[in-house]
Amino acid sequence: MRTFPAGFVWGAATAAYQIEGAAKEDGRGQSIWDTFSATPGKVAGGDTGETATGHYHRYREDVALMRSLGLGAYRFSVAWPRVQPDGGGAVNPLGLGFYDRLVDELLAGDITPYVTLYHWDLPQALEDRGGWANRDTAYRFAEYAQAVHDKLGDRVREWTTLNEPWVAAFLGYGNGVHAPGRAEPADALRAAHHLLLAHGLGTKVLREAGAERIMLVINSAPVFTPAQVHDPAAPVSEADAEAVARIDALLTRQFLDPALRGSYPEELVAAHAPHVRDGDLELINQPIDLVGINYYNPTVVEAAPGTPADPAWPGSQGVRFCPVDGPATAMGWPIVPSGLSRLLVRLGRDYPEVGLMVTENGAAFDDTVEDGRVHDADRLDYLRTHLRAVHDAIGEGADVRGYLVWSLLDNFEWAEGYRKRFGIVHVDYGTLTRTPKDSALWYRDAVSANAV
Ligand code: FCB
Repeated sequence: MRTFPAGFVWGAATAAYQIEGAAKEDGRGQSIWDTFSATPGKVAGGDTGETATGHYHRYREDVALMRSLGLGAYRFSVAWPRVQPDGGGAVNPLGLGFYDRLVDELLAGDITPYVTLYHWDLPQALEDRGGWANRDTAYRFAEYAQAVHDKLGDRVREWTTLNEPWVAAFLGYGNGVHAPGRAEPADALRAAHHLLLAHGLGTKVLREAGAERIMLVINSAPVFTPAQVHDPAAPVSEADAEAVARIDALLTRQFLDPALRGSYPEELVAAHAPHVRDGDLELINQPIDLVGINYYNPTVVEAAPGTPADPAWPGSQGVRFCPVDGPATAMGWPIVPSGLSRLLVRLGRDYPEVGLMVTENGAAFDDTVEDGRVHDADRLDYLRTHLRAVHDAIGEGADVRGYLVWSLLDNFEWAEGYRKRFGIVHVDYGTLTRTPKDSALWYRDAVSANAV
């Protein structure tokens, strides 16, 4: 058994659009994901978040489920279009009321709410004015952050500004695989900068309002050459090292360097120069307490002269993204637990000024319910091996404060729709019945032992 430090936070994560449903209720405005998922060909199976898991109406049952698993923390996001249906100005009390009740229900169950302000569901009204490519959206975000803090700040201590700005910018505006579905790589870089600006302005607002702990959550991964995946000491050519550095800059340092140091990594200074204004980097560089890491698999690249740039990775010409041998999840994502320990140790070393938390980690597999049970041995093993990797990283000095499994429930997996199941709790989309999978029962035992 490997025991985690006292006070280690155990929990689960979700996001508003992926679970809530009730898309047209209580005055909720339209989000870019409503528009995108209603556009034929964008989401597998034509799925939308209109009903999702029905969490908006079943949140009490879901909190009871969390209690039965002994979770100490629940990371969820607030839907901006519920709070400001038109993306600005008047606040919709009915929309905020839902999160008010959810927070009370969590606290009554001794579960710490971790509130994420932006998990990708931008009000469509703001996209109509240019979305994240428009600098003004960052200022609208700060107003929205203020409105949510005004309502929940007396009870919520753990705040996250953004979830995975890389995905929002580069899949939303770079290759268009996510909402709003624009494929304009120059706008993707602009969007990334404005998301960072929103993080800085939002952090300032939250801090001035008295928020206790503030976190930025990024999707991060170690970037390896194919040989390094299984052998950290494998030799790397100069060309491959340069390819690795360029992708690492885009994925991780693009966000952590401005947020924690007030500068873009040298690889990206020129790319961002056209839209960075005087004072922006100071605004972005607000003190924060934690960096949240969403880890699923390593990114593997090598130098391959002549390869055109991938639209999700502006400036990646000459870099090939490589497959990884070995087991993979239903997403096709390679299973490399050691990647998580190597990532956490490296981030702890490079950014000693903040604590770390694993804010998402988990796996999709094709589950089936048999006699009221889901024997998801693959997911259970994924969680166990990744938690061991977190434990290893702590042993090597990384300041990792907690682990939040993705996800509590099967849910709307963005462009993949409902066919990819990440939950430790199964959702029957016909009846909305919840069934804890074997992985949930195993996780409950790990949580109660504070050990794996
Ligand atoms: C992350 C997202 C989360 C979920 C997982 C599988 O990129 O933050 O909403 O879709 O991937």
